[in-house]
Amino acid sequence: MTEALAATPGDVVAIGSDHAGVELKSTLAGDLAAMGFKVLDVGTNGTASVDYPDFGKAVATAVKDGKAKAGVVVCGTGIGISIAANRVSGIRAALVHDTFTAAMAREHNDANVLALGARVISPETARNALKTFFSTPFGGGRHAGRVAKLG
Ligand code: RB5
Repeated sequence: MTEALAATPGDVVAIGSDHAGVELKSTLAGDLAAMGFKVLDVGTNGTASVDYPDFGKAVATAVKDGKAKAGVVVCGTGIGISIAANRVSGIRAALVHDTFTAAMAREHNDANVLALGARVISPETARNALKTFFSTPFGGGRHAGRVAKLG
């Protein structure tokens, strides 16, 4: 059986960031649209200082409530906003640094939210990680029981 992608073209993908991630968020939102996803942008929309937990929670809640199939969150390091997203039940947010971790987040962890640090990796690396994340299916098999234990 072919295991599922995090989202397929036509699905809604929610995206959010704080001020440190807003520029990268805009780039990635364009990439998601070009990949055929409907983009639900929960903000922030400018460079004024905001609190990353608000945007991590907004993306995660959209996924949990079924308004989006998967999500993308960006802050300076990706750390704070991934922690925020992971506090919502059913969310598996993976902080990814390259295409290898993006692929593993999907194949081994069935991550449903991609987290990126705009001050940590280059926009090019982030864009490649995004493409990898949304084109890599969950591996299933031995990984399925482990993911189930995450709750
Ligand atoms: C904002 O300055 C910064 O703390 C935030 O973007 C993020 O890196 C937190 O984890």
